[in-house]
Amino acid sequence: MAGDVRFEPDLYRGTADYYDRFRLPYPDAMIADLVRRAAPSGRGRLLDLACGTGQLAFPLRGSFAEVWCVDAEPDMTEVVRAKATAVGATHMRAITVGAEDLPAGPDSFESIVIGNAFHRLRRAAVAGLAHTWLRPGGCLALCWSTSPWAGSRDWQRALAGVLRTWQNALGAAGRVPPGWDRPRQRDPDHDVLSRAGFEPAGRHEFSVEHHWTIRELAGHIRSTSFLPPPVLADHAAAGARGPRRRLRRRPHRRTRPPHGRRPPHRDGRLRLRTGPQAGTGVKAGGRRWVVGCFRMASARRGGCGRGGAARRRPST
Ligand SMILES: C[S@@+](CC[C@H](N)C(=O)[O-])C[C@H]1O[C@@H](n2cnc3c(N)ncnc32)[C@H](O)[C@@H]1O
Repeated sequence: MAGDVRFEPDLYRGTADYYDRFRLPYPDAMIADLVRRAAPSGRGRLLDLACGTGQLAFPLRGSFAEVWCVDAEPDMTEVVRAKATAVGATHMRAITVGAEDLPAGPDSFESIVIGNAFHRLRRAAVAGLAHTWLRPGGCLALCWSTSPWAGSRDWQRALAGVLRTWQNALGAAGRVPPGWDRPRQRDPDHDVLSRAGFEPAGRHEFSVEHHWTIRELAGHIRSTSFLPPPVLADHAAAGARGPRRRLRRRPHRRTRPPHGRRPPHRDGRLRLRTGPQAGTGVKAGGRRWVVGCFRMASARRGGCGRGGAARRRPST
């Protein structure tokens, strides 16, 4: 199959702190479901591939004797190390390396999880490696979540528009390669995994309504690969309006800024405040998480995907 679009390896540089603070955790129900499906023995090893700051590794760590957290971005693994030390998780190991170059032997892992990242990896190569790395009966789970601005509410559309404006104004539009999703449409993840020897073992969705503060949204934006702090910082006036005005327009339209303050967009600069005052304004939005479980086609039935959902075809 034709190759995937290549993402630059350092797109998340400078985001780790924001990523850790402002990404919503995977819902407890999703983590519990994943554990139930993977049925870890308690003596095995978990691999969280492209782990970020350990969004999956930390909630799953109690079910494994050892946890490897692997990410190409050193800032991310540094945060993982600090967090593991802070919670006394001596069985967690953070490794800074590209997923494709991880030195791991056959049958090294009882479970492998990849959260919001499979599209950034060389999918066919990583699928093949994962098949080798997994123990027979082991589970591979692809986990996904939607962005806060992915939705049809007025504020979500307004925010998506602001972000597009900023990317263009800051010359950051190309950070996400154009047409990045086309290879996945032509050759979906489950086909890539199937060629590597996996079979689907259930796809599950979890929806949660979340009320975002402006501060949370601002932090989340800074955790992205397309508008990270190095891109947003020190930007010059670019003629775009600040998001707060756009976000407030409906339903909180104000004719005058609160407490007589000048609104942050008045000087024409791109602004996104994350200070204490930015915590005002709350936006409701549904958030959706999806987990697709896979197991080795040739393996004995066991672990991931026991039960009726096992034969459903995932679309992640
Ligand atoms: C959207 S974040 C996902 C973080 C976390 N897994 C989650 O579920 O929120 C994508 C992560 O993939 C990492 N990444 C991108 N390409 C990678 C590669 N080839 N090998 C390892 N990590 C990679 C980035 O550094 C970033 O931390």
